[in-house]
Amino acid sequence: MNAIVIYKTKYGSTKTYAEWIAKELSCNIKEAKSVSASELEQYDTIIYGGGLYAEVINGVTLITRNMDKLKDKKIAIYTTGITPINCRDYYDKYVVEKNFKGGVPENIKIFNFMGKMVLSELTPVHRAALKTLKKIMSSKKEPTEMEKLLVELCDADGDFTNIEEIKPLIDYIKE
Ligand SMILES: Cc1cc2nc3c(=O)[nH]c(=O)nc-3n(C[C@H](O)[C@H](O)[C@H](O)COP(=O)(O)O)c2cc1C
Repeated sequence: MNAIVIYKTKYGSTKTYAEWIAKELSCNIKEAKSVSASELEQYDTIIYGGGLYAEVINGVTLITRNMDKLKDKKIAIYTTGITPINCRDYYDKYVVEKNFKGGVPENIKIFNFMGKMVLSELTPVHRAALKTLKKIMSSKKEPTEMEKLLVELCDADGDFTNIEEIKPLIDYIKE
């Protein structure tokens, strides 16, 4: 297998998973900023990881904007975030719609892992963004279940990374 793990991280949790996956698969690992689209063509299996920021998978356009070049590759994309993994609507609907305008291509499988959000580590810009989001969502008169959840998640504080979560991705890549 000629595989590479590529990741983009701000606070480190996506990198942690990238290292666990690359170790398990004994394959290359690189940060997204040092990978060009043409370099991707030399691999037959690509694993891309990015943290979720307002439902956007950090840096995933490296993959989605180059789908014509990558259509014959086996691709796994993993997200890291603070939304509980059992919120399937959030991941399968909102996150997919935001990142894959025409739907998820057949050669891509998506995995969702719990990440890290330690409030004391956040940049002032990120702290302010969460405060604004919480204010907007809290002001809704009849909030949806999703909006209620978002208000709660703005206060999430901790490292929820867990090596056990990579198992389904590893099985998919090896199958
Ligand atoms: C401004 C901001 C927006 C975020 N938006 C989301 C989100 O939409 N969904 C989610 O599950 N987590 C969200 N998170 C949590 C991050 O995705 C989580 O901390 C992730 O593990 C970060 O990845 P990284 O450590 O690799 O940068 C957000 C965090 C911040 C600071």
